[in-house]
Amino acid sequence: MAEKNTYQITDWNGQSGERWVANQARLDAVAAVFGQAAIEAVAPATGERVLDVGCGAGASSLALAARVGAGGQVLGVDISEPLIGRARALAPQDTSALFQVADASSAELPEGAFDILFSRFGVMFFDDPTGAFAHMRRALRPGGRVAFVCWRAAAENDWVRLPISALKGIVPPTAPPDPEAPGPFSFGDRGRVARILAAAGFTDIAIEPFDASVPFGEGETRDAAIDDAVKMAIEVGPLSHALADQPDDIRARASAAVRAAFAGLPCERSVMIDGAAWVVMARNPAS
Ligand SMILES: C[S@@+](CC[C@H](N)C(=O)[O-])C[C@H]1O[C@@H](n2cnc3c(N)ncnc32)[C@H](O)[C@@H]1O
Repeated sequence: MAEKNTYQITDWNGQSGERWVANQARLDAVAAVFGQAAIEAVAPATGERVLDVGCGAGASSLALAARVGAGGQVLGVDISEPLIGRARALAPQDTSALFQVADASSAELPEGAFDILFSRFGVMFFDDPTGAFAHMRRALRPGGRVAFVCWRAAAENDWVRLPISALKGIVPPTAPPDPEAPGPFSFGDRGRVARILAAAGFTDIAIEPFDASVPFGEGETRDAAIDDAVKMAIEVGPLSHALADQPDDIRARASAAVRAAFAGLPCERSVMIDGAAWVVMARNPAS
């Protein structure tokens, strides 16, 4: 059988991983409120053991560790060496969170060892999502809970819809991506997420929309904040792949067009853009 997740492993250890590390503080500012919604939904109790899948630079693992306390455990796993390096560097000495470089879809995880399977935007990248969730389910105790947050469709997320629309007429159109291909929006279809979890053996599946306006760029002045948002869209956002091989003049035109699109948004020192996510809950059957 072909190796799984090879593109994602290469990308998150290469360009995406490096860019994510370079923009980690900004990205954490965008993702925080969504991760917090999933944490509140699953309500970790003191002493619980949590597996944080695709933990990236570890912000959600640290937030979970604060909730479960010294008697609990959080294991953050991620395929990206640079992001796990950043997570270890950012972790305070007294956190109970541990970090491991591993592909969550195939890593040897202790059976039945976790009370909660959690993720903040880290479960949409598997080549075989049903197989991955079936594998991760075995690491949950009987009756254990799942909580993760994932993006809804790109068209519902202004942080991607606005800059992509701004590129029309500047960058030649490409075929629309397969909405189920591994990537940030592959869990946009609620029915598909429910089917994946059910096929992986989970029950009590509940999928609720969660919307928030998030700081996509920040600066001392309105102009600086808009420049920061444009940089973020071009470096790590949806445009990073679309513009990767484009010449400098096209990149400059694209940047100006994205700036014009962002200039209409509410902003004093933060450009606030709407994000649309699912908060997904499920349970491992009791036996
Ligand atoms: C969008 S980032 C989110 C990172 C982090 N959870 C956050 O909210 O900042 C997705 C993360 O999933 C990780 N990832 C992708 N496929 C994975 C896999 N098969 N196993 C573990 N981590 C994976 C990536 O390396 C990346 O760090």
